[in-house]
Amino acid sequence: MKRLIDEQRIHETVDRLAKQVAAEYEGRPLTILGVLTGSIVLLSDLIRRIDLPLRVGLIQASSYRGRTTTAGELTIIDDLLPDIAERDVLLVDDIFDTGHTMQALLQAVAKHEPRSVHSLVLLWKEGRQTVEMSPDYFGFRIPDEFVVGYGLDYDDDYRHLPYIAVLEPNDMET
Ligand code: IMP
Ligand code: MG
Repeated sequence: MKRLIDEQRIHETVDRLAKQVAAEYEGRPLTILGVLTGSIVLLSDLIRRIDLPLRVGLIQASSYRGRTTTAGELTIIDDLLPDIAERDVLLVDDIFDTGHTMQALLQAVAKHEPRSVHSLVLLWKEGRQTVEMSPDYFGFRIPDEFVVGYGLDYDDDYRHLPYIAVLEPNDMET
């Protein structure tokens, strides 16, 4: 594995994102919705740095299947969603790759009639986007490589790494 973004840079960037969000949402009824499972580390760091009253909720999206780095069928589960009617919602996910997941999440959330819905991701992969929309806030642009750590997994491993690393072919052998 090759380290791509160290802990220090992640924390500086999460601070910057938290300040942007705080400036934008001041005085508004904010609900931050973390996308399970990849956003959990970012979500917990981000919400503690936003100096505003806010609510936190979760929504689940999954598309990757086991030991593959290509996406399968996308499933969105909104059973855990709190009441977001009349609230400003910020969806938080680990990475924007093709954008298919975020686009589907925005549509799923919009059905619950929030006041507004926007998106924030830590990572945005270069040259992979297949949808019209782009994330409203992002931390880093990264090359088109498969990354793990800080919430991102490969076959459910490596989410706990405090940094972001590029998975290399020998990391995928079993
Ligand atoms: P998209 O729908 O193609 O934008 O993919 C978004 C989802 O795929 C993310 O929420 C991640 O769960 C997963 N994903 C995409 N790229 C990576 C990666 O490099 N490492 C780990 N997960 C990834
Ligand atoms: Mg994900």
